[in-house]
Amino acid sequence: MLDRLEQQPADALLALIKLHDADPRADKIDLGVGVYRTGDGATPVFEAIKAAERKLVAEQDTKAYLGPEGDMGFVHSLMPYVFGSNPTRGGRIDGMQTPGGTGAVRLALALAKKAGVTRVLMGTPSWPNHAQIVKDLGLELAGFNHAAEDGTPDFAALKAALAGAGEGDAVMLHGACHNPTGIDYTPDQWDEIVAILADSPVLPIVDLAYQGLGYGMDEDAYGVRKLVDAVPEAMIAQSCDKNFGLYRDRVGALYVLGKDAGDIERILSNGHALARAAWSMPPDHGAAAVRLVLRDADLTARWLAELEQMRTRIRQVREALAGAGQLGSVDLAPLARQSGMFAMLPLSKEQIEALRADYGIYMAGSGRINIAGLTTDNIPKFTAAIAAVAG
Ligand code: LMR
Repeated sequence: MLDRLEQQPADALLALIKLHDADPRADKIDLGVGVYRTGDGATPVFEAIKAAERKLVAEQDTKAYLGPEGDMGFVHSLMPYVFGSNPTRGGRIDGMQTPGGTGAVRLALALAKKAGVTRVLMGTPSWPNHAQIVKDLGLELAGFNHAAEDGTPDFAALKAALAGAGEGDAVMLHGACHNPTGIDYTPDQWDEIVAILADSPVLPIVDLAYQGLGYGMDEDAYGVRKLVDAVPEAMIAQSCDKNFGLYRDRVGALYVLGKDAGDIERILSNGHALARAAWSMPPDHGAAAVRLVLRDADLTARWLAELEQMRTRIRQVREALAGAGQLGSVDLAPLARQSGMFAMLPLSKEQIEALRADYGIYMAGSGRINIAGLTTDNIPKFTAAIAAVAG
């Protein structure tokens, strides 16, 4: 039976980690998978998390099971950061813990399907795993163009997609720090999106995987907060993998906005049932550490300061790249106006392969670069290599 299964290619992005690690060149540059790096190229554990982990080891007196909802202390402590003041919007929002942001996206789409959604509208390019999850769940994907040529959102394409959508449709939006393009909606555009969705049967699902890495925790939540103020129903997939640096600990949450406070328990009971059948319950450690950070004012201040440092460095690298301007056919200037860890360079497959083979520069096959992989030391090498392959 199992011998009928066909060989599947390794996930291209994750395979890049191994390719980079195997490259013996000392000056190789890893711009692949989305992990933050310091100016020294390290991805350290946050000091605030280290302190919380010490506390956890000292204080935790059991590792007995939680339920499929995970650590609700974590889920609720995070809510003011995601939704601002009045975080439950009168009891209409609640959530559950998930294994990372991917678990939250998967659960959101599975719940949407169970509720009758058959088609998902999504700006493309998007994080490749979005389309894989949509396909795996047997949902139809309706793509529309996300990025215009000038490095801003193709807003007309989004509006046309929403105008042609109706009952049975969901729309997947990136809350901030768009992956892979870095091209976000402006606050004015979010206002317009929210006004459209407030009068539409289309179910909004927002992936908020990089909150705090763009302009700030509040600024990056602008769209989500406006949305839950105005629409009848929505789902928000939140990740702490990047903004708490907990990648492999898989820390995420799915939040649901219901029409009525009385709907929430019933909606989430479906989330619990789906989770039980898929992963039973999420891993505890990382979420418990986040809860301890958020329940301690000193640790919260330390976490926010560390996050600000990351954001500032990402912004500095963006400015430095933008300063290089036009390099052959690649214009880096728009990177200054874009946000978060990623940007997408208009490079061909051959140019991306030449960067890897000739310069030891590793980026996704789509041309996406992880901005945090660049440092003051390696930016000159990077821009020279781009100029050479794209000249
Ligand atoms: C990325 O896009 O690089 C990250 O979200 C990691 C992943 O799981 O793909």
